[in-house]
Amino acid sequence: MNQHTLSKNDYENFRAFLENACGIVLGENKHYLVTSRLTRLLDEFNYPSLGNMIDKLGQANNSALKDKIIDAMTTNETSWFRDKYPFEMLKNEIFNELAAKKPPRIRIWSAASSSGQEAYSISMTFSEYQMKNPGKFSGQLEIVGTDISPTVLKLAREAKYDELSLSRGLSPERLQRFFIDQGDGGQKVKPEVASRCRFTELNLLNNYSLLGKFDIIFCRNVLIYFSADIKKDILTRMAKLLNKGGYLFLGGSESPTGYCDLFEMVKLNSGVVYRLK
Ligand SMILES: C[S@@+](CC[C@H](N)C(=O)[O-])C[C@H]1O[C@@H](n2cnc3c(N)ncnc32)[C@H](O)[C@@H]1O
Repeated sequence: MNQHTLSKNDYENFRAFLENACGIVLGENKHYLVTSRLTRLLDEFNYPSLGNMIDKLGQANNSALKDKIIDAMTTNETSWFRDKYPFEMLKNEIFNELAAKKPPRIRIWSAASSSGQEAYSISMTFSEYQMKNPGKFSGQLEIVGTDISPTVLKLAREAKYDELSLSRGLSPERLQRFFIDQGDGGQKVKPEVASRCRFTELNLLNNYSLLGKFDIIFCRNVLIYFSADIKKDILTRMAKLLNKGGYLFLGGSESPTGYCDLFEMVKLNSGVVYRLK
């Protein structure tokens, strides 16, 4: 066996570790994924083989290794205004509904925020709403982005994006309006948009009641990685964090049906959202 080969036992131990640590359920045949994502950590932590590194995961004193492994195993795929309709719904319907209650502030949680595109897209949508509806809402918007991966959170906090990530979902008008050219191919999100967002490390398996209450939660394209029991637990705890009548946006292939009956599906003009019953 070479240093990159995983025995059946190593693989099963690794699957159990990963699910327990962050909820991600690996299929039975994802050996290549584990090998390709973990190999670079062998040198960094000085282990002779993947099998040896996985054996060490059981020990109590290696939290740095565990954190790096979780970071490496997350899939951080995201884009600007992903799926379009959630942002259309905010701009055309939901911000109006919330503004009518005249709260001092609206709070939105981008759970599993990845590198920040979702949170900043919400903030840009709010700027557009304010432009279209001057004087309708005089309070603040606060967006809390959380993710388990410190690597993507660092990118989110820097708020600077390269050409490739900027090419995914941003219109030329939005690029022009909401970014500052850095002169090196990169563009930085303008303070007007960035100042509404803050980013914190958070594992969705852990307690999040300290985040406070929210009007809207975006939890998109992350539940797909979890088991039914974990989906149930997360959705139930998210429901407790929503204000009365609060909204939950899920990814296109995700739904609370069968996991949590605290939400009702609402069809608005541009798509589907879930509302706390
Ligand atoms: C595919 S991205 C989705 C990003 C964004 N919500 C979107 O829809 O574009 C999934 C994100 O979930 C994060 N993630 C995975 N497991 C997590 C956990 N247990 N707690 C918090 N975040 C987690 C990953 O680090 C990754 O950034």
